[in-house]
Order: sequence, then C-alpha cells, then structure tokens
Amino acid sequence: MALTERAHRRPDAAGIGLRLPHIAEVVATRPAITCLEVHPENFLANPHATELLTDLARDYPISVHTVGLSIGSADGIDHAHLRRLRAFIDGIDPVVVSGHLAWSTHQGEYLNDLLPLPYDEEALKVVAAHLDEVQDGLGRPYVIENPSTYVAFGASTMTEVEFLNELVHRTGCELLCDVSNVYLSAHNMANDPYRFIDELPSGAIAELHLGGFTPEEDEATPGETLFVDTHASPITEPVWDLYEYALRRFGQRLTIVEWDNDIPPLATLLGEAARADKVTAHACSVQEASRAGAA
Ligand SMILES: [Fe+2]
Repeated sequence: MALTERAHRRPDAAGIGLRLPHIAEVVATRPAITCLEVHPENFLANPHATELLTDLARDYPISVHTVGLSIGSADGIDHAHLRRLRAFIDGIDPVVVSGHLAWSTHQGEYLNDLLPLPYDEEALKVVAAHLDEVQDGLGRPYVIENPSTYVAFGASTMTEVEFLNELVHRTGCELLCDVSNVYLSAHNMANDPYRFIDELPSGAIAELHLGGFTPEEDEATPGETLFVDTHASPITEPVWDLYEYALRRFGQRLTIVEWDNDIPPLATLLGEAARADKVTAHACSVQEASRAGAA
C-alpha cells in the first residue's frame, strides 16, 4: 500500500497505548476508541497476545511503536529483529509504524533505555541510512519520534528540532511529535517548548503522543528538578495546553495516550483519550473561528 493510502485511513482522533494487562478486557468489551498502539517487542515472544491483537486489528486501526530498533546505533540495524518485526507488522497491517530518534544497542547488547544522539552531520547520515534500511526491511514508512532529553552533547552542531527538520528534508520521512517529550525536554534543557512546536515541519507530523512524567531531584544539579519520562501518571495541565497549541499549528492528528508504569484501570486511559478528543474539538473550533474572522 502506498504512503498516501495508508495515511488516508489513519484516524485523526485519540487512541490509547494497549498494554498486556488490558488486552483481555479490550478483547472482551470492545471499547469505543479510535486506535490502539502497541509495542511489538511485548508481543514477539507471546503468541497468545499476538493472536488476540490480530483479532483486535480486524476492528481497530493499530499503530505499532517499536522500542528495540535502535535507529541511532553506530553498530547498525539488527536485521534478525527487523525480520521478526516485519512478520509481526504484516500480520496486523498497522496505520503507522514508529520509533524513537535514539539508540539502545551496543555490540549486540540490548540496553533497557533510549539513549541520546549528538546532533551533527555524522549522526544525521547514520540515522538517514538506517531509516532507509528499516523502511526497506519493513516494506513501509517508519515514523521518527522526538526523544525525552536529559543531556546535550558538546559536539552537537544543530538543535534537536534542526536535526529533525534536516532528517525530514533529506529522507522525506514523517515525524511523531511526543508533546510530553517536547514539554519535559524543554524544562530539562531550559528551552521554550512552544518554539519547538513552531519549528517542527507541520506537514510531516503523522501522529502525536501524550504521557505522564515524574519530577525528580537532579543529582547532577542539586536543588534543580528533572522531569523524567516515566509514563506513570496522568497528563499534566501544561502538557494539555501545549497539546492544544500543537493541534492549532499542525491540525487534527492521530494522538495516542501512553501509560507504561503503574498502569491504571482501562477506564482511566479511555478518560485521558476522551479529554484529548475534547481538546482537539476545542482547538478546531478556535481555528474555525479565527479563519471565519479573517475571511
Ligand atoms: Fe512517546
């Protein structure tokens, strides 16, 4: 299927990250939700869960969000993992396949973290080449997500948003804008999150993420608070505000609520998605009103 056809059937409302503790309930109750997003690494060694997901994929658009592809690794892409992913993805035909701008493997070892890249020409060439390999291997576009940021490299020659723009320009890829990551990274790096949203290439935004973060004491700078991307709590009010701003800039977009630790009842996640839909409706009405005022 061509990119435009897949983008055409991509919903532009809110869905939830589907985690294993909720899968039986979702299968049994079929909640009214626009889209389900899964981490394929949770399913690859779990044939029963994969069977349930394949059943759900008949009723729900599925988004696949990889956490183990390590597109920024200097060691290269793990082609055995890529083949496993392709078999999984072909079975459910998702509307989006995405992963972070990060690396998580070194010399064949999988590290349980999404680690940062220096933003320079060398890293750009590595990521662009790996993106080609991944898209060839999966037989479909691979969407890149902005990471949560805690440190910056002195060697970087561009900002994160300049790097993402250049990646889109060189490869034609689409982006997943994690609004919570934009907010917490801006806090951690003392940047302006609204400016980051302003500088993203609006037409390349395929999907948005929202998730909770945890304030923690910054060990490197005592007295300072670091926001850590834990996905363990409700979305905060400043992130809802930034989300509405992002919707006004990008237009209505598929949005996924992520919650991976201290997972709450399914109803809580569905409530967060319902709020995202309300914020979207408000952003659209404000846009309509300002268009009508300008006409
Ligand atoms: Fe995310």
